[in-house]
Amino acid sequence: MKMVVAIIRHERLQEVQDVLDECGVSGVTVTEVKGCGAQRGYTEKYRGASVHISLRPRLKVEAVMQSEIVKTVVDKLAEAARTGDHGEVGDGKIFVIGVEDAVRIRTGEHGPETVRHAERAMWGH
Ligand SMILES: Nc1ncnc2c1ncn2[C@@H]1O[C@H](COP(=O)(O)OP(=O)(O)OP(=O)(O)O)[C@@H](O)[C@H]1O
Ligand SMILES: [Mg+2]
Repeated sequence: MKMVVAIIRHERLQEVQDVLDECGVSGVTVTEVKGCGAQRGYTEKYRGASVHISLRPRLKVEAVMQSEIVKTVVDKLAEAARTGDHGEVGDGKIFVIGVEDAVRIRTGEHGPETVRHAERAMWGH
């Protein structure tokens, strides 16, 4: 299993969730975060003075899934999270991390089956 961590713009959340749903990923965790990338923030005028804003708000989307589908999911996520016709600076990043195990607490079952959903209708439960 792998965890895909995507740092995205708020406005792309619905599209990103749609990709995970289509690909059969059983769940997702979304957190409000602040960060900066290669541009290291930007400078803004505040009451006449230049203020350096180094961290901007983004969403961190974490989803654990079966290793076999990671490549497809990552490619689709990158497309879903991109803005404009060719992408914009600050559109975000995707990281892939190895996951040793997963447990569904309700049943005690372990392993890849716990991070897969067979039916869309199961979402929300
Ligand atoms: N190396 C990194 N480690 C952890 N988080 C990162 C890293 N790079 C980017 N991020 C996160 O992703 C967000 C968006 O990054 P961003 O898209 O600006 O990356 P970039 O490398 O600067 O690419 P671009 O040149 O397209 O802007 C950052 O605000 C930060 O939260
Ligand atoms: Mg950047």
